[in-house]
Amino acid sequence: MQPFAIAPSILSADFARLGEEVDKVLAAGADIVHFDVMDNHYVPNLTIGPMVCAALRKYGITAPIDAHLMVKPVDRIIGDFIEAGASYITFHPEASEHIDRSLQLIRDGGAKAGLVFNPATPLDVLRYVMDKVDMILLMSVNPGFGGQKFIPGTLDKLREARSLIDASGYDIRLEIDGGVNVKNIREIAAAGADTFVAGSAIFNAPDYRQVIDAMRAELAL
Ligand code: DX5
Ligand code: ZN
Repeated sequence: MQPFAIAPSILSADFARLGEEVDKVLAAGADIVHFDVMDNHYVPNLTIGPMVCAALRKYGITAPIDAHLMVKPVDRIIGDFIEAGASYITFHPEASEHIDRSLQLIRDGGAKAGLVFNPATPLDVLRYVMDKVDMILLMSVNPGFGGQKFIPGTLDKLREARSLIDASGYDIRLEIDGGVNVKNIREIAAAGADTFVAGSAIFNAPDYRQVIDAMRAELAL
C-alpha cells in the first residue's frame, strides 16, 4: 500500500486566483494537486485543459499534478498533458477506444498512467492491464461536478480494487474521488483507499490547513 496522500481537487478552488490557491493548499499540507478536466461531451461540464496545467508549472508549482481526464476521445489530448507537466494522467475506459494503447501513450510520455471507474462501471478491464497502471481511481460520485454526496456502495468496490492490487503485487495507488470529507475519510481508508481527492470539503472551508490536518488525524487513528 502506498503512503496516504491528500489530493485537493482544484475544481472547487477560485479559478481567478488559481496559482495562489494551489500554493495555499500545498502550504496547508496537500500532497498532490487533483486537476479535473471536463469536456462537456463525456461529462456535462467544461473546465480547464493543458494550457492551465502548463501555466501552473510556469508559475512554479512543483508538486505532483494528477490530471483526471473526463474527455472523449482521450488519446489526442494525452501528449498535450505530458508536455504541460502532468505527473499522473488518468482516463475513463469508456472514453478510450483502445485502453491498452492509451495507457501506453501515457507511460511512453513519461507520466504515470491510471484508469478511472465510474460508480456503475465494473473493474473487469483491470485484469488485462494491471501491469500497465500506476493508479486506479474509483469515482464515488457520477463525474461532472464537485459537491456531490459520496455513494456508499463505493466502499465495497474499494475493497475489491484493494484485493486486486494486493494480489497483483504491483505498486498501484488506489485513489477515491467524490464526496470525501473529514467525517467519512477513515471509513474510506479502511476500505483500502490510499489517495483521497477532496474538492468542496477543502476549498469551501475557511482554513485549508485545518481540514487537511483533521483528515490526517482521522487517517492516523
Ligand atoms: C467530479 C470530480 C471531482 C470533484 C470532487 O467529477 O472528478 O474531483 O471535484 O469534488 P468533491 O470533493 O466536492 O466531491
Ligand atoms: Zn476528479
